[in-house]
Amino acid sequence: MSEVRIETTAEVHELIAKRWSPRAYDASRPVEREKLLSLLEAARWAPSCFGDEPWRFVIGDRFNDQAGWKGLFETLADKNQLWAKHASVLILVVADSQFRMNEKPNRWAQYDTGAATISLCLQAEALGLSAHQMGGFSPEAASSAVGLPEQFTPMAMIAVGYQGVLDDLDQDFQVMETAARKRQPFDELFFSGIWGKAV
Ligand SMILES: Cc1cc2nc3c(=O)[nH]c(=O)nc-3n(C[C@H](O)[C@H](O)[C@H](O)COP(=O)(O)O)c2cc1C
Repeated sequence: MSEVRIETTAEVHELIAKRWSPRAYDASRPVEREKLLSLLEAARWAPSCFGDEPWRFVIGDRFNDQAGWKGLFETLADKNQLWAKHASVLILVVADSQFRMNEKPNRWAQYDTGAATISLCLQAEALGLSAHQMGGFSPEAASSAVGLPEQFTPMAMIAVGYQGVLDDLDQDFQVMETAARKRQPFDELFFSGIWGKAV
């Protein structure tokens, strides 16, 4: 598992304290199939509006499906490719824009899909893996790479793997990787009863 590198106002579970988004991945180490399935199972049990489960995940495993992995990799922004090339697994996260029950627009689909994704990321941390979400990819290219039906919206890509060593990263990524982890001040985000009144 990762180290705790954050200061918190209140105590949080160590999984939350340790989860972060590294860029250094061990390119030679596959993600075991049972661990990969465990990540997906964690996502599966996320809550969703009307229990619709609007998320879908398309997996590209570099050790088992080179072509699938490459198809996803090529949709990444250049800057993300520089480090994500070492990730053993890439996962395309997709939201279903329509409810299953009536095919009406589901305005909570993206919210629910984010919830499923953080479950996956926390399960990764629990299993000694790292996960790094990316918005820097082409949704159009990703849709065409996996043959996405029109009602589905590509939301993010996740790099998953075992953490690697800093030396394998370009210099500017090394700086980012070791920078202090920060968040907005507590009082600017959490309000008591009315907008703007600090908790
Ligand atoms: C929707 C989303 C899109 C992101 N896009 C990128 C990205 O394209 N490239 C990248 O390196 N990190 C990306 N990140 C990672 C964030 O930069 C990172 O989560 C944030 O800086 C907080 O750091 P932490 O996850 O280590 O706590 C993204 C995260 C999310 C949730």
